[in-house]
Amino acid sequence: MPWSDTVGVVGLGRMARALLLPLLESGRLARSDVRAAVATEASALKLAGELGVQVTTDAAQAWSAPVVLLAVKPQQIDAVAAVAQAMAPASAPDGHVPLLISVLAGVPLRRLQALFPGRACVRAVPNTPALVRAGLTGLSWGEGVGEARREQVRRLFAQVGEVLDLPEPQLDPFLALTSSGPAFLALVAESMADGAVAGGLPRPLAMHLAHRTMAGTAALLQGQELHPGQLKDMVTSPAGTTAAGLRHLERAGLRSALIEAVLAAAERELREETGCRLGNARIHGEFFSAAEGARNHITVVTGTASGEPCVDGREIIEAAFVPLDLLPANIAPASLRRLIEVRDGLPPAAEW
Ligand SMILES: NC(=O)c1ccc[n+]([C@@H]2O[C@H](COP(=O)([O-])OP(=O)(O)OC[C@H]3O[C@@H](n4cnc5c(N)ncnc54)[C@H](OP(=O)(O)O)[C@@H]3O)[C@@H](O)[C@H]2O)c1
Repeated sequence: MPWSDTVGVVGLGRMARALLLPLLESGRLARSDVRAAVATEASALKLAGELGVQVTTDAAQAWSAPVVLLAVKPQQIDAVAAVAQAMAPASAPDGHVPLLISVLAGVPLRRLQALFPGRACVRAVPNTPALVRAGLTGLSWGEGVGEARREQVRRLFAQVGEVLDLPEPQLDPFLALTSSGPAFLALVAESMADGAVAGGLPRPLAMHLAHRTMAGTAALLQGQELHPGQLKDMVTSPAGTTAAGLRHLERAGLRSALIEAVLAAAERELREETGCRLGNARIHGEFFSAAEGARNHITVVTGTASGEPCVDGREIIEAAFVPLDLLPANIAPASLRRLIEVRDGLPPAAEW
């Protein structure tokens, strides 16, 4: 089914190109319907030639489209939002609210909605294998995105892999597993190749074998719907070579290292979002920032004298299990104390 809207693209880097190319190549999106914006003239010239679409450094043109794919780096969002805010969003021809699809890591829906008023927002978390159309994308929907629009967005990301709808709090662990995961697995592949080189194989052959082993294992797990433990048992014979290697991995703590790596990535992602969610609130000369945990808890963190967001674990004063939506923007010290006292239950919002 063809894409029926003009599509604005703000930021036409690797991720936006990976998403756009299949649409253009299949003819489902006409090249004349794309209005892309980048930061530099050199990029604009190069990309316009490469893709055959309109690319300028004037983002206002992209923002006039009823559907905008936002794909700049997260730190560029404020500059980009200033341009968007200066103009009224175009209304979609089919009467839908204009749509913003953001692939920015660490920028939550509530911030997107605040920065881009008048647009329904979708937060998409694609991963790097999307570049070879073997990706995974998690989608969380902001308010006002109807089912027809959702289907359109799902189809966009389905071109580069599998698509899942997720509640927003699950996007942090999702990102940790799917976006950082390729780096963790690459490290495993490289290390196994190092082992084979140490055992006497030439480096190129060892790398090739490591990649093929990883791809073949994934295909087997998926193709036969095996639990990883079943596959492990299939290739582990009593007192055999694999058992010897596994024993070594268990002694070295491989499982725990990977569990902690995924959790560390999720926590880091959460911290990225912290500054975005509340920033620093000046309260009677003190600074506070708050973070929402993957399991819906808020960690209240003391700030620094300079007012910079504080993410130092030593300065965490307490954590409470409270959804962020119940945390008032201008939290008062008394309310903060109450928040800190909350352990298991939620106080009614009116008490704050
Ligand atoms: N790449 C991935 O695998 C991946 C995976 C998941 C999520 N993401 C997310 O995707 C986003 C983009 O990543 P990327 O790797 O595609 O980045 P990238 O290759 O560095 O591309 C960034 C693009 O933004 C443009 N840009 C910068 N400032 C701008 C401005 N003020 N107005 C308009 N355009 C501007 C740049 O233009 P110039 O070329 O002129 O500088 C460039 O085209 C990030 O937020 C990232 O979190 C990426």
